[in-house]
Parts: sequence; C-alpha cells; structure tokens
Amino acid sequence: MVKAVVLGAAGGIGQPLSLLLKNNPSVTELSLYDIVNTPGVAADLSHISTPAKVVGYLPPDDGLKKALTGADIVVIPAGVPRKPGMTRDDLFKINAGIVRDLATGIATTAPKAFVLVISNPVNSTVPIVVEVFKKHGVFDPKRIFGVTTLDVVRASTFVAEVHGDLGKAPTVVVPVIGGHSGIVPLLSQSSHPLPSGFAQESLEALTYRIQFGGDEVVKAKDGAGSATLSMAYAGVEFTNKIIRAVKGEKGIVAPSFVHLSADKNGGEALKKEIGRDLDYFSAPIELGPEGVVAIKSLGKVTDYEAGLIKTAVPELAINIEKGVSFIDSSKL
Ligand SMILES: NC(=O)c1ccc[n+]([C@@H]2O[C@H](COP(=O)([O-])OP(=O)(O)OC[C@H]3O[C@@H](n4cnc5c(N)ncnc54)[C@H](O)[C@@H]3O)[C@@H](O)[C@H]2O)c1
Repeated sequence: MVKAVVLGAAGGIGQPLSLLLKNNPSVTELSLYDIVNTPGVAADLSHISTPAKVVGYLPPDDGLKKALTGADIVVIPAGVPRKPGMTRDDLFKINAGIVRDLATGIATTAPKAFVLVISNPVNSTVPIVVEVFKKHGVFDPKRIFGVTTLDVVRASTFVAEVHGDLGKAPTVVVPVIGGHSGIVPLLSQSSHPLPSGFAQESLEALTYRIQFGGDEVVKAKDGAGSATLSMAYAGVEFTNKIIRAVKGEKGIVAPSFVHLSADKNGGEALKKEIGRDLDYFSAPIELGPEGVVAIKSLGKVTDYEAGLIKTAVPELAINIEKGVSFIDSSKL
C-alpha cells in the first residue's frame, strides 16, 4: 500500500506527474492537492483502470490536512514557473512562501513521509522544508529530497544524441551533481563514453546544454512556462525509485539534492571532495526502505569537471543560506 500525494497537482507539472503516478500499480492511493481544479483532475484520472484511488482536495475544509493524512510520499511541484528573462532565483520570493506553508502541513500531518521537492529554486526550497521540519522537531535528513532528476534525464538524452542513437537514451547513465542551478554533469563517468576525439569545445557545449536545458524549453514555450512534461517524467522516475527502494529493492542509486547529514560518513567525505563545508549537495544517493542509505563519493573527476564544481559551490552556499534565512525570518 503506497499513498502518494501531489501538492500543486493541477499545474503544468502536477497534472502529467499525477497521471504517471496513477500509472504505477504500486500506488494504491493518490491524493491531489492544489488551490484550484483538483476535483476535476482527480475525477478525470479516477477513470483510469489502475489500482490507485484518486481524490482531489482544495484548501477549504482542511483540504491540505486531509490530502496529507497517511501519506507515504509527498511530491511538491506547487509554485510559479519561470518566464523568459527570469532566473530561478527570481522565483524565490513567491515559491519560498508556498513551500514553507506546504512543508508546515507535511511536518504536522505526515512527518514520516518522503518529501520530494520540485518547486524552484530547489537549492533554496529544500533548505526551507528542512528548516520547517526542524522547527517542528521532526527533521529526518534521510527523507527529504530535492528532485534534480530532470538534469539527469537531459544528460542521458543529450549523450544519446551525441552517439546518434536515441535508442540508447534509456540506458545512458551520467552522474549529475552539484545542485539544480550549479548543475555539474560528470560526463567523464558516462556509462556510454563520449566518442574518442570528442573536442573540448564540444564537451563544453554539451555541458552547457545540460546545465541550461531548461532555458531551451522556456524560450520555445515563449511565455507559456517552463519544462512540465519532461519534469513530470523525471519526477516520477525518481518517485518510482523511492517506491522500489521502500519495497526492498537493493542498490538503487540516483542523484538528489540532500542534507549531507543523511549519511554522516559519506557526507563528510563528500565535503572533503568538494572542498567546502556545505550542508547540502546533489550527489549520487543510494536509496533504501528508510530513504538515504549512503551518499556516494563523486569518484574521479577531470580537471574541467573540478573547475565546474569549484564554480558551483559558492553559488550553492548562497542559495542554501537564502532558504535558511527565509525561515529564520518567517517567525514560525
Ligand atoms: N526541479 C526541476 O527540475 C523543475 C523543472 C521545471 C519546473 N520546476 C518548478 O516547478 C514548479 C511548478 O511549475 P509548473 O510549470 O507546474 O507551474 P504551474 O503554474 O503550471 O503549476 C503550479 C501549480 O501550483 C499551484 N499552487 C500555487 N500555490 C499553491 C499552494 N499554496 N498550494 C498548492 N498548490 C499551489 C498552482 O495553482 C498551479 O496549479 C515551479 O516552481 C517550477 O519552477 C522545477
């Protein structure tokens, strides 16, 4: 029995994400919460012939509390998306408040649930969830995840394109680390190495494309929002990995932006690798029934990749601090 809850379920990401969760037969209950339209989305999805019982909730009548009661996994794509010209940080002010309030609901109603944060800027919204959980005395670093899977999915697709064979996309594995902004693809560790003689210039262009793939979509949508369908796919890829790990499957590894105390030894070793005492970083995480089992080492990186990490780290520190101080000044 798995109860999954989507907060922001009527949105551009929320709807396809809910559809894909409804398509997972392991999900037996699917709760959809948003400030608008969830009864309609839920009625629509409820006709699909898969096991999950789907219910939609709105804010009146304690809707958030009802949606969250008994939750095993909570996925949060609530918030405003990026418009052309906006950076992820521009979103901060609006989304920070939304995520804080939803996190308060989770901390009080479903503190043991796995929390998967999609709302941007992830590097700041994850610390917001953590600080809210700390204030309620229910913080468990093994259970709170920033979803960086879209960066991983893009890396797989773009590397397969370099190989001229999209058929490889589902099996290409590239560790993508750092943060969501401050994205560092470790292409030297790709399961499908780049062709020999791949020029440094091409490597840099590929790296840039993975880091700023979101901009391609924002531009192409021309004012209508940011990545939604690929994000829904990526969000459910990660959610399904958590569900498989909870059910006892061993050896599942996926990058995610986590609090580094989730694995004390692994976290300390990672801080040495990146050369800074950050509290959060996106690294390959081994998942188990209780969430984070281990934070993996970054392994051997090239000088170019080491340079990218060095550039990302100060930016990450600023993003993290922004989230922490938002809650400090929120008087919860
Ligand atoms: N992590 C990533 O890789 C990634 C990728 C793309 C987008 N995003 C982020 O995901 C978020 C959602 O994007 P979208 O395109 O789906 O936006 P959207 O505007 O289409 O949908 C957002 C939904 O959130 C709802 N919402 C707003 N306030 C709420 C609240 N207090 N409680 C519950 N629901 C609330 C809205 O009503 C809306 O239905 C944005 O912050 C976006 O930047 C993250």
